[in-house]
Amino acid sequence: MATAWWEECIVYQIYPRSFQDTDGDGIGDLKGIIQRMDYLESLGIDAIWLSPVFCSPMADFGYDISDYYTIDPLFGTLEDSDLLIREAHERNMKVIFDMVLNHTSIEHPWFQESRQSKDNEKADYYIWSDSIPNNWHGAFGKKAWTYDDVRKQYYLHSFLEEQPDLNWRNQEVVDAMFSILRFWLDRGIDGFRLDVINCIVKDKTLRSNPKIVGSRPRPYDMQRHIFDRNRPGTHQKLRMMRQLVDAYPDRMLVGEIMVELPGEPELAASYLGRNRDELHLSFDFSLAYTRFNAVKWQRSAKRWCEAIGKNRVPSWVLNNHDISRLVSRLTGNVAKAKLASLFLITQRGSIFLYYGEELGLPDSKVPWKYIHDPLGKRYWPVHPGRDPARGPMIWTVEEGHGFSVGESWLPFAPDAASYAVEEQEKDASSMLNYYRSLITMRKEEPIFGRGTCTYLNTNNKHIICYLREYEDEKCMIILNFNGRKQNVIIHDMVHPKTDWTIRFSSQKMLPDTETEAFNLQPWQGCIYSLKSKSS
Ligand code: GLC
Repeated sequence: MATAWWEECIVYQIYPRSFQDTDGDGIGDLKGIIQRMDYLESLGIDAIWLSPVFCSPMADFGYDISDYYTIDPLFGTLEDSDLLIREAHERNMKVIFDMVLNHTSIEHPWFQESRQSKDNEKADYYIWSDSIPNNWHGAFGKKAWTYDDVRKQYYLHSFLEEQPDLNWRNQEVVDAMFSILRFWLDRGIDGFRLDVINCIVKDKTLRSNPKIVGSRPRPYDMQRHIFDRNRPGTHQKLRMMRQLVDAYPDRMLVGEIMVELPGEPELAASYLGRNRDELHLSFDFSLAYTRFNAVKWQRSAKRWCEAIGKNRVPSWVLNNHDISRLVSRLTGNVAKAKLASLFLITQRGSIFLYYGEELGLPDSKVPWKYIHDPLGKRYWPVHPGRDPARGPMIWTVEEGHGFSVGESWLPFAPDAASYAVEEQEKDASSMLNYYRSLITMRKEEPIFGRGTCTYLNTNNKHIICYLREYEDEKCMIILNFNGRKQNVIIHDMVHPKTDWTIRFSSQKMLPDTETEAFNLQPWQGCIYSLKSKSS
């Protein structure tokens, strides 16, 4: 069976505020993304995913939408989005929009109408209650219920109080949201990244969640989200959404699944549907939260693959707009970051990259006066929020870094010039060129996206070693997760060392002195191919 594009694609997430500004307001825009199309094409990616660009009061930077049918003037116009889709398609790249279906902005006309009375036309578009009916928490801390002075009732918000939850038990809401999806599909969008999609349907009788007892609960979220997330009705809605989307050729749904504690791959996998009839792809963030350690990474990746199974497609992600950037999590160790991305790019399925990841960009340092993220405002300085991971893209070395002629809305990463695209392009050993060659290799050789994966035993807790096989090709990946050289002997390997030839390395190779063992530098990752029998 032919492979669909989303089964082995590389998606590049753009946080539009921070990618490229063209009007000098210090905030990126759609025209900016269009201007950088050649760069995007040069990366070899298959698709771009844009964090929300719809009309929004920006309480949560676009994740609070007040009009799903228009582009926020900050970012541009509908014509700009049409042009962006066209320009991307001309370069064989797909465009995915971030779609927030769980909640709207408090300023959405539906909410404004809904709050007026208990019996207006939109009265049941949201979830209202005379008193606080349960113990549900908002994901950003605080109670999930806020009193509205106008309607004199409480409304539910699983996130900020500016983000009231829609009532997905109301068929009119379902129809309205499906019309929005169709509107964008008709305009040529190739798919959606569905925000917190496992939250949409709530318990019918709004029962309280059980409290977490014992083991290190998080202070702001001490409950099991049994009744406000993962309701059976959500799966049913997703099956309908899948049918809607599949009526258009080649479109795709990838979902963000909210988890209680990092690492619930089985939950993320369940949203692909037992019969592959829900999301096309879902995110598992386990790796991004797993300590950089061979045993732990291997365990985490294996568990995700097992949850997904052979017939469905795993997706892989190390960075996004909600988490500290990989390089910062690895305290600036570039060799480790290269190893991590080698692991990422040699996995079966689809890969999600986050703008700046290809530059090895670290988090920005964001002083209090620049903190925008509501999470940061609430928890700073204990937690700086998510602004540091959303710093502007670095294109050039001079002031403004080619991002904006105005003052950028967030500070650039420290030592920004050293990450500039224009400099990295000139340097064959730069992170940017490293990513490019990894991506090219993956695209040229289907074994990486499609092949099976078997972990091999090396009896070395610092090493991950796996065999990828596709048709009659084989390649082997060996990764050293340690700061010392390792001599790696592979125990359950049928091919002697001499059968393997080096295909790619994250670092300069050590002189080969061993007959049996593979010598790896600190933090080195290598890909070997099996020499063909005829050579
Ligand atoms: C998702 C988004 C995050 C947003 C939240 C509420 O987790 O990734 O940025 O704040 O949903 O919409």
